[in-house]
Amino acid sequence: MCGIIGYAGHRPAVTVVIEGLKRLEYRGYDSAGVAFVQNKCLETVRSEGKLERLEQKLSRCDPYLATTGMGHTRWATHGLPNEQNAHPHQDQSGRLALVHNGIIENYLSLKDQLEQEGVEFQSETDTEVLVQLIGWHMHKDGLSLQRAISRALEQVEGAYALAVFSTDNPDQLWAVRNSSPLLLGVGQGENFVASDIPAFLNYTREVVFLDDHELVLIQPHSWQVYDSRNLEPVTKAPEHITWDVQSAQKSGYKHFMLKEILEQPQVIRDCLAGRIDRDTRKVVLKELEGWEVPTRVHIVACGTSFHAGLWAKYYFERWSGLSVQVDIASEFRYREPILKPGELVVVISQSGETADTLAGLRIAREKKVPVLGICNVLGSTVARESDLVLYTQAGPEISVASTKAMCSQMVALILLTLYWGQAKGTVSSDFSSKALKELESLPELMQAGIPGMHEQARSLARKYSVARSFFFLGRGENYPLALEGALKLKEISYIHAEGYAAGEMKHGPIALIDQDFPTFALVTDNDLLQKLQSNLQEVQARGGPVIALTSPGVEIRVADRWEVPKVWSQLAGFFILPALQLFAYEMAVYLGKDVDQPRNLAKSVTVE
Ligand code: AGP
Repeated sequence: MCGIIGYAGHRPAVTVVIEGLKRLEYRGYDSAGVAFVQNKCLETVRSEGKLERLEQKLSRCDPYLATTGMGHTRWATHGLPNEQNAHPHQDQSGRLALVHNGIIENYLSLKDQLEQEGVEFQSETDTEVLVQLIGWHMHKDGLSLQRAISRALEQVEGAYALAVFSTDNPDQLWAVRNSSPLLLGVGQGENFVASDIPAFLNYTREVVFLDDHELVLIQPHSWQVYDSRNLEPVTKAPEHITWDVQSAQKSGYKHFMLKEILEQPQVIRDCLAGRIDRDTRKVVLKELEGWEVPTRVHIVACGTSFHAGLWAKYYFERWSGLSVQVDIASEFRYREPILKPGELVVVISQSGETADTLAGLRIAREKKVPVLGICNVLGSTVARESDLVLYTQAGPEISVASTKAMCSQMVALILLTLYWGQAKGTVSSDFSSKALKELESLPELMQAGIPGMHEQARSLARKYSVARSFFFLGRGENYPLALEGALKLKEISYIHAEGYAAGEMKHGPIALIDQDFPTFALVTDNDLLQKLQSNLQEVQARGGPVIALTSPGVEIRVADRWEVPKVWSQLAGFFILPALQLFAYEMAVYLGKDVDQPRNLAKSVTVE
């Protein structure tokens, strides 16, 4: 997730753009850049790191005559976060500059085609392919910028929100979207395009929400929207926004945590992007090309990331026929783990900076066992020290309580189990194709199902807000999710909660059960359903209230039945997870806790 802004008006464009980028820094901040046209010359200033580095560079030039400009804060997905890969990118003619948010899935094949036509690339990014392709159509086919954009996008597969301008018409700026957010801000004698409202909220509250395949031209005194496919004009009307900047950065939600929970459908799309071959319907993981299937996998992680790894263990065994050991990193690092040649250590970390997880990574390196890092931050220490990296592409996760990161880790791990299952022949191509079809259907199902789940979470949270302790119970792949549900409730509502394998209750914990000790049971339609039902009867026989988070059609008699939308039983976890997150969220809100910055916690635990 990156931040883009474009401006055409009467003010010094670079000042407006930098101010807008500051308001978009929560969307990505590993590098930044601006482009503007001054004295008919295209100027591009970019820098690695935070915005202040870019401002220092700008202070050494005089960019204040330009009244049209664009800017970008990057959350790298392709190409390390450095100046060379920072946006804006230019085409080789030096007439075009472009900024982009999204993932171009077929950028490598387009890049090959352009290189064969003599185009020379300056970066590793998918974005530069976009601007070179547009420039190539202008040069080779003699097309206008508008037509060249349309022609280029016919060839592009993937998600994008982009802004582009040319020195030919320095007061015109074009922008277009497909799957990534893009808005138009309508001012007096000035117009804006941006990824999100905060970027221009200081100048105008009149916003046009653009839809997929809508191409907009902004000039200081006019704007016009077109269908990017046929260039037919499209009628759009501005809406008046009443948010303040802070709430606009959370897309109007009260907390980043809620915004990030609701981003999970898009996170699944982004994590799948470019990793399923549309023809063969097989998993394609370029990052692992040339690497043998490991003989055994050791997963090492902390907290929520550990729960994602433990959840994946069930699928590695079931689908890939692989033996998997999952360890909490702070234990792994002080044991004498037996790691053998041919094995693989998989470290999972959203931040890529967790000290215990890094220690586990370094033990593997010392023992000469390769490491696959599954992380969300390009250029993070885990990414730099791993032999292989599988990025989760979830975009920045601001809230301390990790939500969308776990969803993206689960997607990456499921892809990995299918990838290795394909290689070992432990999954048939029919099964693999079905699993991928079900995965691809998740975002739409979640988009439709989450609002109803949110309502149920809110009412259950209020009903059980007096509880001082909870059990979270699950069996099979629901056991790690029970651990995660307990962690979420603990860390943001400060209510004690224990996640347990349901079969363990009779070995002691059931002694705690009484009417004031509710149990949250994950009762999806897996092979252990009957066994779990008898575990819950034991709990209810002792007066313990049970909330059953279950799937349609599952027979269960409990105090509160919470039914999540129907989905392939193997992937029910993708609905169980947001339900648990929403329950914890609504409980914390109801109890008046600081949801995004819970007491005693840090977003990334970079010390032991
Ligand atoms: C989860 O909500 C917590 N914020 C915490 O457990 C976190 O998952 C853990 O510290 C690991 O962080 P990482 O994924 O960045 O390594």
